Amino acid sequence: MNEQLTVTQTLSAKAAPALPDTQTVTDVTHWTDRLFSFRVTRPKSLRFRSGEFVMIGLTGDNGRPLLRAYSIASPAWDDELEFYSIKVPDGPLTSRLQHIRAGDGIILRPKPVGTLVHDALLPGRRLYFFSTGTGFAPFASLLRDPETYEKYEQVIITHTCREVAELEYGRRLIAALHGDPLIGEMVAGRLKYYPTTTREDSATTGRITDLITCGRLFDDLGLPPLDPETDRAMVCGSLAFNNDIRAILEGAGLCEGANSEPAQFVVEKAFVGDGV
Ligand SMILES: Cc1cc2nc3c(=O)[nH]c(=O)nc-3n(C[C@H](O)[C@H](O)[C@H](O)COP(=O)(O)OP(=O)(O)OC[C@H]3O[C@@H](n4cnc5c(N)ncnc54)[C@H](O)[C@@H]3O)c2cc1C
Ligand SMILES: NC(=O)c1ccc[n+]([C@@H]2O[C@H](COP(=O)([O-])OP(=O)(O)OC[C@H]3O[C@@H](n4cnc5c(N)ncnc54)[C@H](OP(=O)(O)O)[C@@H]3O)[C@@H](O)[C@H]2O)c1
Repeated sequence: MNEQLTVTQTLSAKAAPALPDTQTVTDVTHWTDRLFSFRVTRPKSLRFRSGEFVMIGLTGDNGRPLLRAYSIASPAWDDELEFYSIKVPDGPLTSRLQHIRAGDGIILRPKPVGTLVHDALLPGRRLYFFSTGTGFAPFASLLRDPETYEKYEQVIITHTCREVAELEYGRRLIAALHGDPLIGEMVAGRLKYYPTTTREDSATTGRITDLITCGRLFDDLGLPPLDPETDRAMVCGSLAFNNDIRAILEGAGLCEGANSEPAQFVVEKAFVGDGV
């Protein structure tokens, strides 16, 4: 039964190339039993701003596209597109998407949108990226974009997950940045990475919200408290996480912005649902 299911899933993924908006998978990496990343060809006409998301998916059993929002994890300059994905065991899309392989087709609607973009923030000196789980994805794009380091003197990325293994995609990406010929020099001494775990011991345990509130984040990184004059922030996690960080940022005097009205921080959901 399981074998039959796998064959059907693979066929469905391979059936996509006949449809419009189809891109070819070039690489797939499985990080844990719940997380994987993959790269696909980039439509020649697709222009996007680092941090934006698009709709991607597969052909559903009814023959119609089954699409979900996905942050583009690769930077705007990359020839390919990268995505970082959850595997929801009974999720309509990801129960099948997790089986894609190089050469398979996926559907990608080339209409990027989103609020986690530089244009939605007023100029500042320090940029914080606050993420949990797959909320790291838009920052995987922005961290690899030279514009981020042209605009800010310091960049701080926090990533909180339940377990250490769930940090690995981000950890490797940031390690690779330091050796990157394009970005390496720009990030040296200016990019601070602050990974934390909540359900397994690691160098830093605890929710980032608590670590901000008690001041440990700033002590550990040698930074002053949040300041609306100098600090900007982008936030991406569950609804509860976003709400808690929003309250902290507003409490520090920062105001939420949008594409139409840039301000001091912006927020986007990493997924819809309460995650319970
Ligand atoms: C703006 C935006 C950007 C997104 N970007 C990404 C991304 O880059 N990577 C990604 O994996 N997902 C992302 N998502 C979530 C994505 O759209 C789908 O929900 C996810 O792929 C699961 O699809 P599904 O059909 O398998 O299950 P769904 O029916 O969509 O979700 C089922 C349940 O699984 C849980 N869930 C869904 N997505 C996640 C997640 N990412 N992390 C933890 N729990 C989750 C929720 O409790 C949800 O109710 C994004 C969502 C939004 C709104
Ligand atoms: N990650 C897993 O190993 C795992 C395994 C099986 C199923 N699932 C399911 O998958 C869904 C999503 O899980 P997820 O781990 O990707 O995302 P998540 O539940 O949003 O948790 C990701 C990280 O964010 C932290 N967090 C959550 N809410 C927060 C808040 N309000 N303020 C500050 N930090 C907050 C969590 O800490 P806390 O740990 O303190 O909540 C965790 O470290 C859930 O439905 C979950 O039950 C997850």
